[in-house]
Amino acid sequence: MDALGTRAGKIAAGENTALWSRTPGSKALYERALRSMPMGVPSSFQAWDPYPVYLREGKGSSVWDVDGNERTDFHNGFGCMVVGHAHPKVVEAIDRAARTGTHFAAPTDVTVAFAEELCRRFGAEQVRFANSGTEATMSAIRVARAATGREHIVKIEGSYHGHHDQVMFSVVPGSDLMGGRDAPATHPMSTGIPKAVADYTHVVPFNDLTVLGALLDEMGDRIACLILEPVMMNIGIVQPQPGYLQGLKDLLHKHGALLVFDEVKSGATVAAGGAVERYGVTPDLACWAKAICGGTPGAAFGGRADVMGTIATGAAQQGTFNGNPLISAAGLATLTEVLTPDAYTYLDGLGTRLAEGCAKAMAEHGIPGHAVDLGAKGCVSYRPEPLQNYRDFLDTRPDLYLASYPWAMNRGVYMTPGDEEQWTISVQHTDADIDRYIEQFEGFCGALAQ
Ligand SMILES: Cc1ncc(COP(=O)(O)O)c(C=O)c1O
Repeated sequence: MDALGTRAGKIAAGENTALWSRTPGSKALYERALRSMPMGVPSSFQAWDPYPVYLREGKGSSVWDVDGNERTDFHNGFGCMVVGHAHPKVVEAIDRAARTGTHFAAPTDVTVAFAEELCRRFGAEQVRFANSGTEATMSAIRVARAATGREHIVKIEGSYHGHHDQVMFSVVPGSDLMGGRDAPATHPMSTGIPKAVADYTHVVPFNDLTVLGALLDEMGDRIACLILEPVMMNIGIVQPQPGYLQGLKDLLHKHGALLVFDEVKSGATVAAGGAVERYGVTPDLACWAKAICGGTPGAAFGGRADVMGTIATGAAQQGTFNGNPLISAAGLATLTEVLTPDAYTYLDGLGTRLAEGCAKAMAEHGIPGHAVDLGAKGCVSYRPEPLQNYRDFLDTRPDLYLASYPWAMNRGVYMTPGDEEQWTISVQHTDADIDRYIEQFEGFCGALAQ
């Protein structure tokens, strides 16, 4: 361990002790929750060692834990809460829906209006609804397979697309399991996935057209689609190199395969129109969830009408709660009344100030890292150079993150446990919230440098 690692370890030990002394209610709730839920949490991504901080309430840019500690929320529900907590417009839409019927399993006018807004905002010809990012990517892959009449798919090493079997490969493979740079392994992230599924999922590196090109040359006539996050957001943030996304589209189309963007995280966060707007490449299909529904569990996917048309001719796509009026009302209010063009100008300003503040703090104290600024999203990665792909992420320093997390939590900044995550800013965040983040981060860099 180097000197920086030793200091990070000492900071983590002291800060964790302080965090645990402030959160006895979370510890007690964790012990209780262990009896009713595996790992004491509703989703494994919410687990943390030795126990997660349990929340009670959110309002505006703040959250309160069960012990009454207030913190400014930069986790924002894995990026769903760009509207901030309990936004009056979203509350009003949900309230109205609650009073007029939350579910019919029949199409409603609000669902049609929400579909139209999604098409307009993301440049899709047609959309269909789902209830989570997982369902959206699962349906998009089904439709891509149906439209091409092919069975194999390609994904990017180090990308997460939800927890259905066909994409749960090489999400965070250990360096001993990931295979060669030119032929990444298809390694399952979970037990319980039939071995045969791996035969249909092929893995390639991000920001690299050569490996994909070789795969397509070998078996392009059997590949239905490549699904990828156009900007990777489950290993910090990895931006596409200029020309990469268009290069993918050209290569795939040359072989009759489709390009599917997973915009579950980037949609409505990195720009009003997501990565399609920011990077200027339109895929054949795209998937959206998280931020589009203002903190309610909705999702959608869509794109070319001829591809989506396979749903009318045999590709099954359904779900009891798809396009439900409660979620549609929340989503419609979110996109049309809250996440307006002005909102993105505001988010861009806050985000840039936050990223610049973090970059300055690291530079002043000689901390090896860089900050990424991408609309409502951004992050610090503890590696001086920007990342190009998953293997670069393995060069970052989780030991620094393990110290910065409790440091922030003890100073009123609520962050996602896990160095693969990024911050999300909401329209209810203020300059004072950004100052709060930068101040504690400067303090952290100073303490690390001592
Ligand atoms: C890029 C991406 N795709 C898909 C998903 C799955 O979404 P959900 O958790 O709503 O099923 C996630 C979740 O974090 C994600 O980050």
